[in-house]
Amino acid sequence: MKALLFSAFVPLLALTMTAPGPVESHVATMQKATSLSVKFKVVQAGGSPQDYSLSLSRDLKMRLESPTKLWVSDGKTLSIYDKAKKLYTQGEVTKPTLLKLLQNEPTWAFSAFLDGDFAKSITSAKPGDEINQKGVVLQEVKISKPTGAVTEFYDPKMGLFRGGSFMQGTVQNFIQVSEIKVTDQSLPDTLFAWTPPAGATLNTGVTTALVYADVKPIFQQYCGKCHGNDRATKNLNTLNYEALMSSNTIRPGDSARSILVNAMRTGAMPRGGSMPKEDIDKIAQWVDDGAK
Ligand code: HEC
Repeated sequence: MKALLFSAFVPLLALTMTAPGPVESHVATMQKATSLSVKFKVVQAGGSPQDYSLSLSRDLKMRLESPTKLWVSDGKTLSIYDKAKKLYTQGEVTKPTLLKLLQNEPTWAFSAFLDGDFAKSITSAKPGDEINQKGVVLQEVKISKPTGAVTEFYDPKMGLFRGGSFMQGTVQNFIQVSEIKVTDQSLPDTLFAWTPPAGATLNTGVTTALVYADVKPIFQQYCGKCHGNDRATKNLNTLNYEALMSSNTIRPGDSARSILVNAMRTGAMPRGGSMPKEDIDKIAQWVDDGAK
């Protein structure tokens, strides 16, 4: 009944954005839930869709899976497994650790499950178009926040954001939710239990992070003639570490949001040529390792 009444009022609310607006409703729905399960795809313009699944339960229990990684918290220990490298790390889980993880896209909207202050980080929320996603009518909400603008798709019937879009550098990404469940029941503990698969090794931190010297030859081969010491197109010199780091095209630790990596991933660079995916992956790994 409540849901019905609410949905009848949504056009009015969306127009005036009087409380409770979509943001407030989303936070309220997430905060009162005992568990959340979401299946979604992240689609990048020109890229293939990436499947994600996220389960959250109270007492800091979480399971998040992407095509390349798995994060599992049983409420005490957070295990992070890198599928390609077959490496995992384990550490004590705290609310700030989980929050920090979830506040990155593509899971930002769902961090409201854990974060009662979710709405406080939002500078403005304005209604956009109404869209029809496979028969479900959703309201676009254009959100500004210090970490970047996003568009969320608000589902007035469920009172929550289900999907949206965000920018990664200059590339737009869409989050398409295929399944979302919020319940007042805990999820089974088996979902939050993780044991290392056969062949996996614990990352003791001894495995050396990539350094600039490891990737410089790649820059030399594919970027140097246009972004080098003699000629630094767009003020980007990839052959000098200090100059490169001052170009603002690299976010250490975050290759997904580094303009330089995205320029290669989208095929925009190297201009007029191409390079092997392994070389792009190596540069991305270097950025994720901290770009030292
Ligand atoms: C043949 C010349 C050429 C090569 C080779 C080349 N680039 Fe570029 N690059 C350009 C030009 C021209 C621009 C500016 C025009 C544009 O943005 O498309 C540019 C722009 C960029 C930008 C955007 C800079 C900004 O701040 O907007 C990045 C990042 C970049 N290149 C990275 C690379 C990387 C990484 C490589 C090597 C893998 C590479 N480029 C190879 C010519 C080149």
